[in-house]
Amino acid sequence: MPDHRGMTAKVRARAVLVVVATLAVVGVGSVMVLRASAEQPAAAQVPAYAHDMAAMRPGSAAAGDIGGAGPVTELDKTFLVKVRQAGLWEMPAGDLAQTHASSEAVKRAGLHLLDGHSHLDQLVREDAKMLGVTLPDQASAEQQGWVRQLTAAQGLEFDKLFVNLLRASHGKIFATIAEVRAGTRNDVIRRHARQANQTVLDHMEVLEDTGLVDEKTLADVAAAVNPPPK
Ligand SMILES: [Fe+2]
Repeated sequence: MPDHRGMTAKVRARAVLVVVATLAVVGVGSVMVLRASAEQPAAAQVPAYAHDMAAMRPGSAAAGDIGGAGPVTELDKTFLVKVRQAGLWEMPAGDLAQTHASSEAVKRAGLHLLDGHSHLDQLVREDAKMLGVTLPDQASAEQQGWVRQLTAAQGLEFDKLFVNLLRASHGKIFATIAEVRAGTRNDVIRRHARQANQTVLDHMEVLEDTGLVDEKTLADVAAAVNPPPK
């Protein structure tokens, strides 16, 4: 029969083993937690956008893809250029509305242009960089001409010019966005088209809310986006 002292020694030995085993588990766990913590900031630095793309096409990097997002067509590239150029004339136009317009609804439309294109311009520059597309840093000559016309106008004349120039250009790019969104095979372009679609729709609506859109403007847009067969 083991004596009391012998039992105590065995119990102590078991206790020591348990403590050592527990410390070992805790130690490994701590290392794992520390590693996870160390990796967290790096994961957090990946743009939210990349997560969206990964969710849409996991492991889909094919030949010619950029980041596995799918091939980029000339139409896709032109679309990004058009979005950039839209912002480059609509933001000055939105600014002008605050000082040249007589209608509060026109000033409100101008604020929507400023807000929408500030956001979209940031996005288009990020997306173009991701896809290796070079963007212009100036609006087109025609768009710059529109800004000059608006700068020279005041009051009701400004209101009408502003609303009709902008409603016409938004109507035309709205059709381009649909064409791009329908046919693109690139996830970045799909996401960009969705954002641009929402922004352009909002701008068309605030412009129409002014009550100043001419029938002729709508007829011109209709003819441009759906030309009659020859
Ligand atoms: Fe716009």
